[in-house]
This record gives sequence, C-alpha cells and structure tokens, in this order.
Amino acid sequence: MNAVYEKLTRCLEDVRKKTDFEPKVALVLGSGLGDFADGIKQECVVPYSDIAGFPVSTVPGHAGCFIFGYLGDVKVVCMKGRVHYYEGYPIEDVVLPTRLMRMMGAEYLILTNASGGINPSFKAGDLMMLTDHISSFAPNPLIGPNIDELGTRFPDMSHVYDEDVAGVIRECAKELGVDIKEGVYVMTTGPSFESPAEIQMFKKLGADAVGMSTVVEAIAANHMGMKIGGLSCVCNMAAGIQKTPLTHDEVQAAAAAVAPKFKALVAAVIKRLGE
Ligand code: HPA
Repeated sequence: MNAVYEKLTRCLEDVRKKTDFEPKVALVLGSGLGDFADGIKQECVVPYSDIAGFPVSTVPGHAGCFIFGYLGDVKVVCMKGRVHYYEGYPIEDVVLPTRLMRMMGAEYLILTNASGGINPSFKAGDLMMLTDHISSFAPNPLIGPNIDELGTRFPDMSHVYDEDVAGVIRECAKELGVDIKEGVYVMTTGPSFESPAEIQMFKKLGADAVGMSTVVEAIAANHMGMKIGGLSCVCNMAAGIQKTPLTHDEVQAAAAAVAPKFKALVAAVIKRLGE
C-alpha cells in the first residue's frame, strides 16, 4: 500500500478508537478563530497528540485537537490548530488532516485563514471569500505516486471553491449585514512575510490577498471531491502597501478584532449547508 495512504488509514483507526462520529462539514480554523469551537455542542474532542504520526503545530496560538459535535443540527468536525508547511513538515503531512476529515465522512470543507491584502480596495479587517487561488509558489501536495483510493492522477482545478457554497456564503453575509469581498488568494510557503516587490508581482498575477496556508489543503480536498468554501480575514495590507513593518502580533490582534463577525458568518454558513 502507498505509504501516505497507509499512514492515513492508521490515523483514521486512531480517531475511530475515540469516536465513530461522521461529520458532514469539516472546518479548519485560522488565526483568531480558535474559540469558534466553543459554540459547538461538543460530542468528542480528540487531541492531535492521540493520533500516532499526526502533525502537531508549533505556532503560538494554534492549539491542536479535532472537535466533533453539532452546530445547529449539522454534524461538524472542527480543526482547532493546523500545521503550516513553513514549520518543516513534508507537504503530505500538511494535508493529512484534511484528507483524514474526508475519510471520516465530511462532504464539505470550510477553510479559514489570515491574509495580507493586495487588492488596493481592501483594508485591514475585511473578510474575503476565496473565488480561486494561485498555488504556484507552494509545493503541490499531490506530488508522488497518486493515491488512487483518494482521487485521480490529474484532477481538474477549474472550480476548487464550490459555486453553491460561494452562493451560501454570499447569502449568509448579506443576511448578517457583513460586508464580504471576493478574490484570489495566493499561497506562499512563508515563514517570512513577502517583500514589496513580491507583492507587486502577485498583484500583476491577479492575486487579491496573500497567506501561508489553505491552498494545499484545498488542492488535496478537491482531489478527494470535497465541496470547498474559503474565507480569509485580511489582517493587514501586504508589504509595501502598508508602510509599517508586518508582525505576527499585529496579524493576531487584527484577527481577534474581526473574530466576532467572522465566527457569526462561519456558523451561519455551516448551518445553511446542513439544510
Ligand atoms: N502575508 C502572508 N501571510 C499573512 C499576511 C501577509 O501579509 N498577513 C496574515 N497572514
């Protein structure tokens, strides 16, 4: 058996020792959204450390566990804490949790993150729905022997972010009175922030926001046929657009300030997906 797939099946077995919960929606919580899980009627919590070989985050503010439970009537699994490629994990480990949530039964994947704004009409504190992404500056998570059990060798990426999910996000944002931007997210490996010249390049390439996550997970999830929604908290304007130096503290503070409206939107979207 393919070694990556073998590891996935072992991880699934470890989860199944704790719970047989089959989520409909999987949710990855980005910076500042960590306490979203408090609003979930929790059935079971599985710390990542209970899953042999599971990648555990080293970033401050990214505690690690799966939370299983209900949001309204919708069965969800929520990742509190995720790993990033810049932490030094092989790319197949970065996408392992996403794949695992699909194997647990999740049909939908909601990816959230923090980003830097490139589109000049954005400002810090905006929310942006991902309409597409640029993956070319991060390694492709599907490199290596194809795992036929998960998906096809050359998966189409024309519609990574599901149109129906996008419609639900737009509707929920409107109902909540939350202004939501839309745009293309480019992923870099990090961990350094971008240079102003890189930001100008990304702008010419059509990117509206930049960050260090999400795209590789979206590729792996799309390979497995998940319906994906992406939401980004624009925490700062990107390097060179914003004249002050960027810091992780600033990103976290901005994410925390936006958290209430971000959480309300994510909760509404998940409930609607369950209808
Ligand atoms: N660049 C990359 N990642 C980020 C940024 C940024 O400006 N802000 C928050 N995450």
